[in-house]
Amino acid sequence: MLKFIAFLFSLVFIFLSPTTVGASYNVDDFGAKGDGKTDSTHAFLDAWTGACGSSSPATIYVPPGSYLLGRAVFSGECKNNDITLQIDGTLVAPSDYSVLASSDSWLSFQGVNGVSINGGTLDGQGSALWNCKSSGNSCPSGARSLTFMNSKNIVVNGLSSIDSQLYHIVIDGSENVNVRDVKIVASGSSPNTDGIHVQSSTVVSILNSNIKTGDDCISVGPGTTNLWIEEIECGPGHGISIGSLGKDDNEEGVQNVTVSTVTFTGTDNGLRIKSWARPSNGFVKGVLFQDATMQNVQNPVIIDQYYCPHGDDCPNQASGVKISQVTYKNIHGTSATQVAVKFECSPKNPCTGIVLEDVNLSYDNHAAESSCANADGTTSGLIKPAGCL
Ligand SMILES: *[C@@H]1O[C@H](CO)[C@@H](O)[C@H](O)[C@H]1NC(C)=O
Ligand SMILES: *[C@@H]1O[C@H](CO)[C@@H](O)[C@H](O)[C@H]1NC(C)=O
Repeated sequence: MLKFIAFLFSLVFIFLSPTTVGASYNVDDFGAKGDGKTDSTHAFLDAWTGACGSSSPATIYVPPGSYLLGRAVFSGECKNNDITLQIDGTLVAPSDYSVLASSDSWLSFQGVNGVSINGGTLDGQGSALWNCKSSGNSCPSGARSLTFMNSKNIVVNGLSSIDSQLYHIVIDGSENVNVRDVKIVASGSSPNTDGIHVQSSTVVSILNSNIKTGDDCISVGPGTTNLWIEEIECGPGHGISIGSLGKDDNEEGVQNVTVSTVTFTGTDNGLRIKSWARPSNGFVKGVLFQDATMQNVQNPVIIDQYYCPHGDDCPNQASGVKISQVTYKNIHGTSATQVAVKFECSPKNPCTGIVLEDVNLSYDNHAAESSCANADGTTSGLIKPAGCL
């Protein structure tokens, strides 16, 4: 009898807990329509206001369908720190790019704590803006699809992002961010469509994701520390880049970055560190690149401290960015060019503590080459091409 009563109680618990524990906000109840043409921006913002004002954990639900959204800022602080955005549908940006293109961001979370995005697709409809840019006319720079600013305890799980106008996902000024199982797709020729950009942030992980885009698959800006990247498929794209750094005289450094188990397919670069050829107090310290497979990559391993596009304020100057303690371990596959390993460090601030361990890169069925300038370090294990440190 006692067992039976306990059983009844547990049934009641199971049935009540989802509704009693959290509040739920279906965007359709706020007037959103998944018909691809009704502007649902206000409905989403109203659902956010409800979830954010809830004193218990809250879920915002987006049903299957296509929801047209203009620029939306979801801002904190909220009354709870457990908001889940469960997206079963697609969020679509306006087809007229000028609606968003002069804003920084299409969808952004600012100053929030404890937000998870689960599933869903973001369609930035960026191709008209890319065409404008490639026509040589003057065009707006474009909006990033999804931005987290000054936020913490964020999860992005199972999201797809396609055809952003500019960067797909940006993590800026944030802490404890976990991005996993995301899929990013844009044309290999689309301009500045970086997959995931991280800057001024700490304790960020990017796991198990597939990125095909027109710029860096992942780019790491100044002020990034304790970043973990693992299990990434990259390509087409410009690779995984720390940088560009050192554009400003006064800049925060990048420290403690791990990039593990990445496959690059047909990318411009593989593992890259890049800084402007300008004075700066920035630095890169403590980077581990390990277990990378290169498939026909233009520059599989590269440090470039001579970045100076358009000759702006940098010709004939040396980069001030100090690069140290960078390890490349178990890097193998094929280079699309003769020089597979290139370290072009600053003449003023040579790279120190570069470690190469078990590197095997070939070019056109032959041994590739390496090229070093102002780079100091050690090698161990098999090193092909032979090191030049
Ligand atoms: C480096 O970052 C990782 C997370 O990516 C963290 O687990 C580790 O503790 C950090 N190491 C130091 C010395 O801070
Ligand atoms: C290095 O790579 C080449 C080409 O992929 C391969 O044939 C060779 O066995 C590798 N060497 C070692 C020691 O792994």
